[in-house]
Amino acid sequence: MSASFSSFTIALLLQSAATPVAAPTASLSPVAHPEIWPTANARPSRDPKVEARIDAILKRMSVADKIGQLIQVDIASIEPSDLRTYKLGSILNGGNSGPGGNDLAPPVEWLKLADQFYEASMARTDGRPAIPVIWGTDAVHGNNNIPGATLFPHNIGLGATRDRDLMREIGHVTAIETAAAGIDWTFAPTLAVVRDDRWGRTYESYSEEPTIQADFAGAVIEGVQGKVGTKEFLAPDRVIATTKHFLGDGGTGGRDQGDARIPETALRDIHLGGYPSAIEAGTQSVMASFSSWNGAKMHGNKSLLTGVLKDRLHFDGFVVGDWNGHGQVDGCSNESCAAAINAGLDMFMYSGSGWKTLYDNTLKQAQSGEIPAARLDDAVRRILRVKIRAGTFDRGRPSSRALAGKMTLIGAADHRAIARRAVRESMVLLKNEGGLLPLKPSANILVAGVGADDVAQQAGGWSLTWQGTGLTNANFPNAETIWSGISTAVKTAGGTATLSADGSFAKKPDAAIVVFGEQPYAEFKGDRPNLEYSPDDKSDLELLRKLKAAGVPVVAVFLSGRPLWVNAEMNASDAFVAAFLPGTEGGGVADVLFRKKDGSVANDFRGKLSFSWPKRPDQYVLNRSDPGYDPLFQFGYGLTYAKPSAVPKLDEARPAGMAASSNGTIFGKGRVPEGWSLTLVEQDQSKVRLLGANATTATKRLTASAVDRRRQEDARALVWAGGPADARVEASGPLDLTRESNGELSLVVDVRVDRAGSAPVNLGMVSNDGKAVTVPITKTLAAGKPGEWQQVIVPLQCFAKRGIDMAHVTAPFVIATDGKLGLSMSDVKIDSAPVPMTKCGD
Ligand code: BGC
Ligand code: BGC
Repeated sequence: MSASFSSFTIALLLQSAATPVAAPTASLSPVAHPEIWPTANARPSRDPKVEARIDAILKRMSVADKIGQLIQVDIASIEPSDLRTYKLGSILNGGNSGPGGNDLAPPVEWLKLADQFYEASMARTDGRPAIPVIWGTDAVHGNNNIPGATLFPHNIGLGATRDRDLMREIGHVTAIETAAAGIDWTFAPTLAVVRDDRWGRTYESYSEEPTIQADFAGAVIEGVQGKVGTKEFLAPDRVIATTKHFLGDGGTGGRDQGDARIPETALRDIHLGGYPSAIEAGTQSVMASFSSWNGAKMHGNKSLLTGVLKDRLHFDGFVVGDWNGHGQVDGCSNESCAAAINAGLDMFMYSGSGWKTLYDNTLKQAQSGEIPAARLDDAVRRILRVKIRAGTFDRGRPSSRALAGKMTLIGAADHRAIARRAVRESMVLLKNEGGLLPLKPSANILVAGVGADDVAQQAGGWSLTWQGTGLTNANFPNAETIWSGISTAVKTAGGTATLSADGSFAKKPDAAIVVFGEQPYAEFKGDRPNLEYSPDDKSDLELLRKLKAAGVPVVAVFLSGRPLWVNAEMNASDAFVAAFLPGTEGGGVADVLFRKKDGSVANDFRGKLSFSWPKRPDQYVLNRSDPGYDPLFQFGYGLTYAKPSAVPKLDEARPAGMAASSNGTIFGKGRVPEGWSLTLVEQDQSKVRLLGANATTATKRLTASAVDRRRQEDARALVWAGGPADARVEASGPLDLTRESNGELSLVVDVRVDRAGSAPVNLGMVSNDGKAVTVPITKTLAAGKPGEWQQVIVPLQCFAKRGIDMAHVTAPFVIATDGKLGLSMSDVKIDSAPVPMTKCGD
């Protein structure tokens, strides 16, 4: 990248001059040639009894019944009673959906709801076969949506363990804690091979190299589902697994839901990674990727979904879509997409109020032959096969199943012990000057840093909530923070441990452990423009430096979802540990950092990097096989107590041209991101760029001046004297906001009306074809109290719907009126609305 501007971390990796997108070339085609792909060694053995049972059921199903099986709906969009009428195949809980709209509902509520959905699905009096609904959930690091569950380290940490057997145990524990809540199916493991660490889902990946996925996949699947061909397979203490996201999700240039522009051989040799072993181990579902390959969305790619996955690799389970991903296929909408089914998708994953429309449309497409009958039957056959194999036809309602309701299994001591072992094995020792580690537990230890006593931060995204944010330690019963683990270890050995987030102390400690790192995020919210750690806030660095300056030996424990450029932080620490996102068992950290009481090593470090560590922030494509590979720490690096090694002083200078990033901020703290401009415009297009605090347009229709809200000159007062004029923020190049407008993000503007308007006021955006769209905010502004700050929130979808090209937005914020108006603004952001918002302005 490079670029003058690299800001706007909320995934706004600009497809601007600064970050050119490879032009489509003739050699990069989205059509695969199955014959050049590997074929799985063993075809899954089909049980003739199961197949005969499928035949018998299929025969009695109506076309409408069959369509129902193809649809999965998020529990936030459907009631159990709907399944009395609509015989849908599946439900899921999205990352932000819990029973009754409560993300934090206790396990019994999940089970109760599972029963209600199941019973409604089985209620039938018309003589047609009753087919049990199955419930899928993202149990991606333990059954992470349910309070009290054991949360394992995210996959990036597990990759560092290189411990295949541990993966099997983790898979099994996850299955047990999922089954206990009455849930049938997990959307895990993710087998993405992430090649560009700017991607917000890097932590969901075991490694940048496919060998680790290939090694782990079979073991995880066996853990979750039990071993094929044995009595374990889909026994009551197992659940259905998903291998996701097929295919090339890790190859999209660091952009969520992006486009992998790579040759077919790279897609095969890098990204197929663990799929063959997952299929051999019997993964029962595969999730299609949101992303594209050479310009075409995976949900519509027949050559890959059918040609490679089903025909060549002999996958005989079903392909589930990803969160309305079918709606992104050319010519499709969320409510209509025969193309995806025809390409080989077997089940739509749907969220929203229009699932009945999806059902009606798909039914019509089947009746008209647009979806061929054979394709429909094949999809249903696959879904029924999995349901039968998983015992859902025979085990009765969820609460009557062997493990369901045994809530003490959720967060059970032996499960937590496995997670704690995983934490010990996943940490990677990057630096240990003078053999500072392991520490003596009888010493006087200061524990500092914002991450020291915060389960949510150590657990990361996909923890209770989708983003893993908005939580306190109280939301995680059964969990232990890193601080708590240290405190117990030190106290037991007769030492003193003190928690002091800001690092202040009365008596100089023997050593300080500083726990800090990334705040939780998931999916596109974690996309970054480069790998600089915390570009806007250097308080962790200051804390490390302050302690070092006071002569205190410093151990840094770094929490992150990916390798980041931390040269300065590393220079300011004597020892530096990459702990990734360890989950709920923070005690595992102390297990490795401290000696035994007798002075011997308790647990040596075992973790080895499964992602290369950058020496510069612009090294986000940093994989062994890439040309010019020059990491700070290479793939496989990891010190031990037995084999120490020195780390020299590191270069702290940002490469020229690297700007600070700004977390979705369009205007904040009195500034726009570097390279952007706040501009005042009169209708005759005389533009004035507001460089300093104050400016006026040519004919003085609009004047801006600096005012204070929370701090000096952090806001701007805008005064319209009358006559069309607007204030706008222009980006340094076109922004691609398609991903953002596809989620729940809004344009969020903090304003204060200083003088009521005399004409309508509009909020808008402009794209680089010159098109401007607006929504009216006149009444919204008038409803606020004069002189008081208020938030105006407009979902990004509103601008998209009005026809602007969201892939090339040049001005993400425009406020305009023809009349007189006095208005101050302090913050303009692209963010989630504090309250769900669907209204487009007034
Ligand atoms: C994610 C999937 C996830 C699904 C259901 C999607 O946004 O990409 O990984 O399984 O949501 O929550
Ligand atoms: C859901 C997630 C889903 C995501 C997709 C969220 O609202 O909770 O499960 O993965 O949207 O963007």
